[in-house]
Amino acid sequence: MKGIVVEGGERLVGEVMVSGAKNAALPALAAALLVEGTCRFTNVPRLRDVETFRGLLEKLGARLHWRGKGELEVDTSSIEGVTAPYELVKTMRASILILGPLLARMGEAVVSLPGGCAIGARPVDLHLKGLEQLGAHIELEHGYIKARARRLKGARICLDIPTVTGTENLMMAAVTAHGTTVIENAACEPEVEELALILKEMGAEIDGAGTNVLTIRGVKELRPARYSIMPDRIEAGTLMVAAAVTGGNILIKGCRLEHMEAVLGKLRETGMEISPLGEGEVRVVGDHVPRSADVKTLPYPGFPTDMQAQFMVLMTLANGLSVISETIFENRCMHVSELKRMGADIRVQGSTAIVNGVPRLGGAPVMATDLRASASLVLAGLAAEGETVVSRTYHLERGYEDLEGKLAALGAKVRKVDLNEDLGQQE
Ligand code: EPZ
Repeated sequence: MKGIVVEGGERLVGEVMVSGAKNAALPALAAALLVEGTCRFTNVPRLRDVETFRGLLEKLGARLHWRGKGELEVDTSSIEGVTAPYELVKTMRASILILGPLLARMGEAVVSLPGGCAIGARPVDLHLKGLEQLGAHIELEHGYIKARARRLKGARICLDIPTVTGTENLMMAAVTAHGTTVIENAACEPEVEELALILKEMGAEIDGAGTNVLTIRGVKELRPARYSIMPDRIEAGTLMVAAAVTGGNILIKGCRLEHMEAVLGKLRETGMEISPLGEGEVRVVGDHVPRSADVKTLPYPGFPTDMQAQFMVLMTLANGLSVISETIFENRCMHVSELKRMGADIRVQGSTAIVNGVPRLGGAPVMATDLRASASLVLAGLAAEGETVVSRTYHLERGYEDLEGKLAALGAKVRKVDLNEDLGQQE
C-alpha cells in the first residue's frame, strides 16, 4: 500500500514550477480521437490518470509515445475499437470523455457507465441526454452505455447543470455534426475553454469558448494539432496553501493567475501576501496566523470544488470560525474525519463544514479517500507537530505530478513509503 510520511514543522522556501493541468490533458487526449493522424501535446503532466487514458486509447487502436519531457505524441490514424471496458472506466471516470469523440468518428461507442466514486454518485445523464439531442441512439445494458449515430446533427442543448466533462463530451460530438449546435449553460472552466481552443486548432468552428454559451458549426473533418497544455490551477492553488500552512515564502512559476481569481481572493482574505511578478511567476508568503474566511464552492469562476479540501486545512489553523460549503458534490467532506484525528475542530452539517481554528495540528496516521482529500492530508502533515503517515496515496499519484518531490525541493520533510496491508477503515 502506497503511503507518504510527512515530518511537520518545516517552513517552505524556494521556487517551484507548476505542471500541466490533468483536467485539460485528459480531454485533449480524447479530442485526438476526432482526427486521423498524429497530434502532439506538450506540457502534459506525467501522472497516473494520463497513463490510464493512454492505455484506453491504445486499446482502441491508437499509438501514443512520450517524446521527451511532457511531450506526448498521439497517433489515431487507425482506430478499430469502440469499447471502454468497466475494468478501466472504474479506475478513471474521465474515460467517459471518449464517448463523444468516438461517436463522432466511428458512429458508435460502448462505454461502461462510470459508477459513483468517493465524492458522489457522479451521474452522466446530462452527457447522454445531450448526445440524444444530437441524434445519437443510446441504450443502457448490463452497466454499459451503447451509443450509435449514423451522422450526428446540430441541436440546441440547454444543460440542467454546467457539467464540465458533459460540456466537453458534447462539444467533441458537435464539431463534425451536420449543422450548428448551441450549448447553453455550458461549463466555462478554463479547461473547457482550453478544449475549445484545441478543437479550433484542429479546424473546428466554435464561438463562445470560455463562456456559458457555445456555438459550434459542424465541419466535414478535422486535422491533427500541436498544442501546449495549460498549467494546472489546482496544483498551483495547492502549492499556495502549502506555503500558507507552513509560514513559507515560495516563488511559483508557470501559472496563469487569471484562472485563479476566486482562489487568490480567498487566500488574500486570510491575510496571505500574493505578489504577481509577471511571466506566470507569483510570490506567495504566509508568515502569520491566517484570518478565517468563509468559502462556498461554485462552478467557474466561483471557488473551485477541487480546492475545497486544501483551503479547509488552512482554515483549521485560522484564528476564528469559518464556514465551508460544498455545493458541487454531495460527499466531498471525507477529509474532515481525518483532519479531526489531527486535532482539527470541525463540525459537518450536510455538505457544510464549520471550522473553528486551533493553534496547531498534531501528526497522526490518516487515510486518503480521494484525490484532493489526499493532497489536503499531506498539507495538514506539513503544518502538524510530529509525524503524519498518509495511506492510500495512490489517489495523489492520479492527479499530481510528483507533488511530494516538489514539496521536498521546497524544504518539506516528505517521503514515499510502502505501507504493509492498510489496516485503515474499510472502503
Ligand atoms: C470535472 O468532473 C473534473 N474532472 C473534476 O475534477 C471537478 O471536480 C468537476 O469537474 C467540477 O469542477 C475532470 O475534468 C476530469 P461535473 P465532472 O460533471 O465533469 C452533476 C479532480 O479532483 N452531474 O461538472 O465529472 C455531478 O454529479 C476531479 O480533478 C449530473 O448530475 O464534474 C456534480 O454534482 C474531481 N449529471 C455536478 O453535476 C451529469 O450528467 C458537477 O459535475 C453530469 C454531472
